[in-house]
Amino acid sequence: MATVRWAAVMLRAALIQLSRSRQANRWVVRLPPARSVARRFVPGETLPEAMAEVARLNGTGALVTLDHLGEHVTSADEADAAAQKYVAALEEIAQRALKSTISVKLTQLGLGIDPRLCQDRVTRIVETAHRLGNLVEIDMEESQHTEATLDIYYHLRKTFDNVRVCVQVYLYRTVADLERLWSQGGNLRLCKGAYREAPDIAFPRKQDVDRAFVRAMDQIFSPAAQSTGTYIAIATHDERLINWATDMTDSRGIPRDAYEIQMLYGIRTELQRTLLDRGYTLRVYLPFGTQWYPYFMRRIAERPANLILGLRNLLRR
Ligand code: FDA
Repeated sequence: MATVRWAAVMLRAALIQLSRSRQANRWVVRLPPARSVARRFVPGETLPEAMAEVARLNGTGALVTLDHLGEHVTSADEADAAAQKYVAALEEIAQRALKSTISVKLTQLGLGIDPRLCQDRVTRIVETAHRLGNLVEIDMEESQHTEATLDIYYHLRKTFDNVRVCVQVYLYRTVADLERLWSQGGNLRLCKGAYREAPDIAFPRKQDVDRAFVRAMDQIFSPAAQSTGTYIAIATHDERLINWATDMTDSRGIPRDAYEIQMLYGIRTELQRTLLDRGYTLRVYLPFGTQWYPYFMRRIAERPANLILGLRNLLRR
């Protein structure tokens, strides 16, 4: 049993490592079977394709957050182009009266090149969203970017309330971060964490991550945090954690509009339907674009069986 667990941890680490390889990226995106398997998680490469899927999901009662795929850009021009794409997406969402926020990765907006310029770009996006009555969600990436990402979030929150930041419960620092975030009446997304982190930074064992998730929800749903108006998005497909959240909020008399549940496109769709039927607010994270390789590999790392399943489905066609 311990050997199987160890092998699973090593496989996940190897797949996450591979998600950062530019060479593997160039090779995999050219493979038609890989593109077909990726479609389960990334329904389109263009904005019109994504918009059609947002409209379909809205029709089922789900809210959406739209992610224009891309990360770790290496030039200011690429970062500017990404910011422009987000502004265009916000305008399109408003024009079509769709119910969708946007999710941005700060390394796509140049965080790794110049944090100041990244802040300017994300401010432009948040300003546009504010003008259009929308919200910008900031994804959380590798731990070397956590501090800078939170700094930008705090800076934005001085002027804007239409911004949400993701925190990863696998990081040891998150307990302290959450304390500061909720004390300012934040808007937060709680997730387990999808990257490869060292054991002195993050819990290596899944059961410890799950326990940390429960502790984080307990913290955010405490009367003290709720009194500051902190809003929380619970981003997980883990049914036990979702049940824990809904039971606990019901028992504490926390209304259903004080939080939402978020899931990734194409994962546990039957559970998504059940939550909608039960009257919970559900938001689907919908990625689109040509830069799907790292995102796709993280989904495979979370569940390597996805690859086998996807290829088997292809062979059956
Ligand atoms: P867990 O991995 O325990 O999965 C629970 C169950 O869900 C599994 O048993 C399986 O049934 C199903 N499942 C989970 N992943 C699957 C997959 N890939 N394929 C098929 N089934 C799967 N991370 C991050 O570091 N920064 C971020 O900004 C975000 N943002 C974000 C937004 C949203 C809306 C979600 C749902 C998740 C993220 N994440 C993220 C990813 C997150 O950190 C985590 O890696 C995944 O959600 C997988 O963990 P679960 O919480 O689903 O639990």
